[in-house]
Amino acid sequence: MAKIAVVGTGYVGLVSGAILSDFGHTITCVDIDQAKIENLKNGIIPIFEPGLDIIVKKNYENKRLNFTTDIKSAVETNDVIFIAVGTPPADDGSADLQYVLSVGKSIATYMNGYKVVVDKSTVPIGTGQKVKKMIRDTLGQRGFEYDFDIVSNPEFLREGSAVQDFTHPDRVVIGAESDRAFEIMKEVYRVLYINETPFVETNIETAEMIKYASNAFLAMKITFINEVANVCEKVGADVQKVAKAMGQDGRISPKFLHAGPGYGGSCFPKDTLALARIAQDCGEPISLIEATVQANERQKKKMVEKIVTAMGTVEGKTFGVLGVTFKPNTDDMRDAPSLVILPELVKLGAKLKVYDPEGRKEGPWRLKDIESNLEWCETTYDAIENTDAIILLTEWNEFRNLEFEKMKKLNTGEYFFDLRNIYNKEIMLDKGFKYYGVGV
Ligand code: UDX
Repeated sequence: MAKIAVVGTGYVGLVSGAILSDFGHTITCVDIDQAKIENLKNGIIPIFEPGLDIIVKKNYENKRLNFTTDIKSAVETNDVIFIAVGTPPADDGSADLQYVLSVGKSIATYMNGYKVVVDKSTVPIGTGQKVKKMIRDTLGQRGFEYDFDIVSNPEFLREGSAVQDFTHPDRVVIGAESDRAFEIMKEVYRVLYINETPFVETNIETAEMIKYASNAFLAMKITFINEVANVCEKVGADVQKVAKAMGQDGRISPKFLHAGPGYGGSCFPKDTLALARIAQDCGEPISLIEATVQANERQKKKMVEKIVTAMGTVEGKTFGVLGVTFKPNTDDMRDAPSLVILPELVKLGAKLKVYDPEGRKEGPWRLKDIESNLEWCETTYDAIENTDAIILLTEWNEFRNLEFEKMKKLNTGEYFFDLRNIYNKEIMLDKGFKYYGVGV
């Protein structure tokens, strides 16, 4: 079993470290945030991810999973070091590499023998080589010439199903430059390898590109169906039937063809921008990705237009808002459509009553600017009581079975904007709602 350090205990680092320890390895998770490390030692997980807490607790107790702020000893005592720190977007859309490179520098500063340095953060093509140079230069300054390998091993974890995605991946992508590195990575993922998970072995640049191209393609697929949905509304077609029948063509597949208020989250918005930037910088702009980014911004605004057009005005109206996170089963609100749609409604004079099962952590500060027109509610029914309209923004399971009889007694609005198409239009119209979905 390999001895592995994972630097960065954010979403990707923590999930990777915890599950690799579950695979039987001894893992040291490193972070500069002392409070976060103390919390993790006490079983307090900084993110909401179903199933993760149990895995962390179990492996921390059996000592296969350790938490520390001491990067020096983590580098000295481990053979494989994962870099899983953030790559936030810089002002021009490019990914900011300062954290990745500074970890590279630390690794070189404390390196005491052969190491495999694995990049798990999503980074622009060419970053692996930059990390390699950083390590080589730093070693040079120390007067050492240790052998090391750089590996690109992108993750394809979806928030909310990260545990399942890590343990049952469609494929594992390994970009490396030596057989030794490929062999060590197979050892790291031995549990998956022996279970016949496909392994893609390639060079570092290809592995880096696979991640960006995959995310950009998925973002484009969602945007495609969103734009088709907008046309469906105008021509009397039903986008759900369209998507279903399209998806039955195996070349298309039904996944990521659900029309909605636009994609959000920590990956698609950031990665599409970064790939567009990379493509522009090398003189080969990818117009489809640029159009995707613009169309996704438009889609969020269109949701507001839909509501205003239906109701005539939103001035003085009260809305029961169900969901603010960018998707269900996460507390993450990064680039969530709610962050555009809700402030816009308030700007037009609306008042909001909001409920989200996990949105209470980030919601209040992310929506601080509109706090005087926004009331946080404890339950679905609190949020929709005495309102003019309901807006369903995130498809949490608990919103799928609303009790319509109960709603009548609570004086909920007759307008129902189902921006995730989780209800059937005919049934909702039958029940007396003025129902609006996306493309139905
Ligand atoms: C995504 C990728 O799926 C994952 O492989 C990558 O590593 C990180 O980015 P994540 O951001 O967690 O994962 O969420 P995902 O489930 O992919 O959804 C992204 C966004 O697209 C959400 O806002 C979601 O609501 C939206 N979406 C998704 C749609 O609007 N329609 C769909 O059909 C699918």
